[in-house]
Amino acid sequence: MRILVTGGAGYVGSHCVRHLSQYGHEVTVYDNLVHGHRGAVADGLPFIQGDLADRDMLTRIFASNDFDAVMHFAAYAYVGESVHEPLKYYQNNLANTVTLLDTMRVAGVKRLVFSSTCATYGEPAKVPITEDTMQRPINPYGRSKLAVEWMLRDCAAAWGLGACALRYFNACGAADDGSIGEDHKPETHLIPIILQVALGQRAQVTVFGTDYDTADGTCVRDYIHVEDLASAHRLAIEQIKAGEFSACNVGTGQGHSVREIIDVAREITGRPIAAAEGARRAGDPPVLVADPTRVRTTLGWEATHADIRTIVGSAWRWHEAHPQGYNDR
Ligand code: UFG
Repeated sequence: MRILVTGGAGYVGSHCVRHLSQYGHEVTVYDNLVHGHRGAVADGLPFIQGDLADRDMLTRIFASNDFDAVMHFAAYAYVGESVHEPLKYYQNNLANTVTLLDTMRVAGVKRLVFSSTCATYGEPAKVPITEDTMQRPINPYGRSKLAVEWMLRDCAAAWGLGACALRYFNACGAADDGSIGEDHKPETHLIPIILQVALGQRAQVTVFGTDYDTADGTCVRDYIHVEDLASAHRLAIEQIKAGEFSACNVGTGQGHSVREIIDVAREITGRPIAAAEGARRAGDPPVLVADPTRVRTTLGWEATHADIRTIVGSAWRWHEAHPQGYNDR
């Protein structure tokens, strides 16, 4: 399949690009490099530096390439920032997706896999979370992603778009061969922060809240390896049906607390990793764990990197080998 990947130089996008290429798909990356890294895309793969807001550029690209499908990762993804700058999120994540979809419609490209998030569920009343759990996002980031899901559903009904929204839980880990990995600036995610402490780049990790109603008082998350996310995207794009919108959670179904992750990281790295107890971070639900039944049964997906030691070990190999990440800014 010929696939345009927006945000293909970002964390999840770049791992999907690599995976799709390994499976024989012809991939073109479209990324404005605001948060993405040129070094995350292999030399030799078609790369276009462009912005989703650039309708003329997208129109030209669709006119001059015969794409079968689009994978859409390009978005801002800092929850805290979205609270302070909501319009930045509605513009980039939502309005620019209108532009993408409209240029796809005009060009007759009718398959799309969308990078959605468990943040669309907000604070669910019950875990594990199924796709039928009420979507009540609690921040502009989650709302911008949910609004795109609604648009996809409407476009499926109106002009035959086939779309699948993959709602990821906590993406983590790095490519199996260590070639690419996670590099956010600023970094806000738990595992990279812990590993930066292990590398001596930070003095300590602060545990955000120790009084949650969980086994050890800290938040529980479903950590999903980025290679497993990549295989879910490939299976989704290969199976999309015209005129249908579908959504799948992508997680392992296993929850791990913040303390547990710190302990595993101490074991894997052999470093002490100082941790301090801090206040709760606003907007953090106590427990987010996926029910992955649908992605298994409908897409035939299975996690192959679900073990938390495998996940943290994979992230550690990348961080140890690339202490400055891609070192490009
Ligand atoms: N945490 C800490 N200390 C830190 C960083 C994180 O204790 O320095 C905790 C958080 O409170 C949370 C857990 O570690 O309980 C994981 O936090 P991350 O920031 O790594 O991930 P989130 O669960 O906040 O975020 C993920 C995705 C977002 C998505 C969100 C939905 O990365 O894209 O889930 O809630 F929006």
